[in-house]
Amino acid sequence: MKAKISIQNNRTVGTIDRRIYGSFIEHLGRAVYNGIYEPGHETADDMGFRSDVLELTRQLQVPVVRYPGGNFVSGYNWEDGIGDRTKRPKKLDLAWLSVETNQVGIDEFQEWAKRAGTDVMMAVNLGTRGPDEARELIEYCNGTTDTYYANLRRQNGFEAPFGIKLWCLGNEMDGSWQICHKTAEEYGRTATETAKVLKWVDPSIELVACGSSDHHMPTFGEWERTVLEHTYDYVDYLSLHGYYGNYAKNTADFLARAEDMDRFIKETVGICDEIKAKKNGDKEIHLSFDEWNVWYRTKDEEKTAERWLTAPHLLEEHYNFEDALLVGCMLMTLQNNCDRVKIACLAQLVNVIAPIMTENGGPAWKQTIFYPYLYASLFGNGTTLRAEVESEGYRSKEGWDIPYLYTSVIHNEARQELVVYAVNRSLDEDMELDLAAEGFEGYRLAEHVELYADDLEAANSKEGEVVSPVEREVDHTAPIQLKKHSWNMLIFRK
Ligand code: AHR
Repeated sequence: MKAKISIQNNRTVGTIDRRIYGSFIEHLGRAVYNGIYEPGHETADDMGFRSDVLELTRQLQVPVVRYPGGNFVSGYNWEDGIGDRTKRPKKLDLAWLSVETNQVGIDEFQEWAKRAGTDVMMAVNLGTRGPDEARELIEYCNGTTDTYYANLRRQNGFEAPFGIKLWCLGNEMDGSWQICHKTAEEYGRTATETAKVLKWVDPSIELVACGSSDHHMPTFGEWERTVLEHTYDYVDYLSLHGYYGNYAKNTADFLARAEDMDRFIKETVGICDEIKAKKNGDKEIHLSFDEWNVWYRTKDEEKTAERWLTAPHLLEEHYNFEDALLVGCMLMTLQNNCDRVKIACLAQLVNVIAPIMTENGGPAWKQTIFYPYLYASLFGNGTTLRAEVESEGYRSKEGWDIPYLYTSVIHNEARQELVVYAVNRSLDEDMELDLAAEGFEGYRLAEHVELYADDLEAANSKEGEVVSPVEREVDHTAPIQLKKHSWNMLIFRK
């Protein structure tokens, strides 16, 4: 099969904000405890953080990590996780029906983030709590005044403010599963009042309001409209969450989920612009896709798991090769919408639906999805170009036309590189790829990294990697070959 990508160097989508390669750590299962933090582990540093996990996180060059939830945040009292650790209360976590020891809180997490070379994206509790606790938290984190909460931080050993610049106004407040779920009206009002006090304490921050927890929520659309009617003047971003799964064991349909993500983004952009026009505003609301991934095997697991355990094995999705293909496609969707999506968080980072896994007292290892995430973060920087694709395709279950070739093309001017990500979604045919690149004369293929497994269900484990990338030999005399169901990164250099 043949396919072609056409680009022109003056036909651009926008500049990629590196924060689209963000991730997420929630107090859930073994993400924090025995994930990033395991004091007795042989690689534990002076604060009990696992150095092997820190090292993998640094490898990924994660720009920002959302914390501390997720559903967890809607029942969280941030004061439980600061100061003297021997005095911290153990509490019930009603989101995941677990016990939270509070041995890690914002004091520790902001330090972990520094060691990981990443920024914190902080979520505040708008479930059981509201503006009052949020304003106290931001004073604790960012305050520079001689006042109670800023001084409390100093007493706890942190003279310098944490300087957290990105704040989420609650989490998935549209979902009935959320602790103290709200209607759009209720949430819109609380989010507005919380936004006001947060920005009064620290005007340099940016705020994310909750959009829909899923494209297919019955309230999608109306939720966004109502929330933005209230919050438009006070917030900078609207969130989207999306998880996809191969429920029907149909790989072709599964790989078409990137199209659903694309539509979700574009429809949300439409609503943001509708409210902007209605309010005669001059501010563009950007998007924060702050939870996305493949997740289905372990959905609702907490409902049947043993209750009230500390750091239980929850939501430990074992990713296979086809999951990595979809994650690769979803990263391209984010890149192709970089004019409006400025933040995105692969949910999550360690153990819980994550690219990095650990064994308690044992090694850390990379799941299949680690690789498309790694190569997007490291090489997907610069300007996204509008790519015209000519490719055969298929029909998805929704009746959408899905081209076999899925791609994003990024021009990294500083490095004089043209980076092409490409997934061949055909399950049985290799593809011969032609690139027509106007304005890029003299660029030649320099690297071809391929992720391929014959078995779509092949998976990595702590015993070893079955799915890992290979550098293909570059042959300028032959056409570029994309294997059937493969992920590829092609770098053209001058
Ligand atoms: O990432 C796991 C959970 O998924 C989060 O806690 C919640 O926000 C979403 O439903």
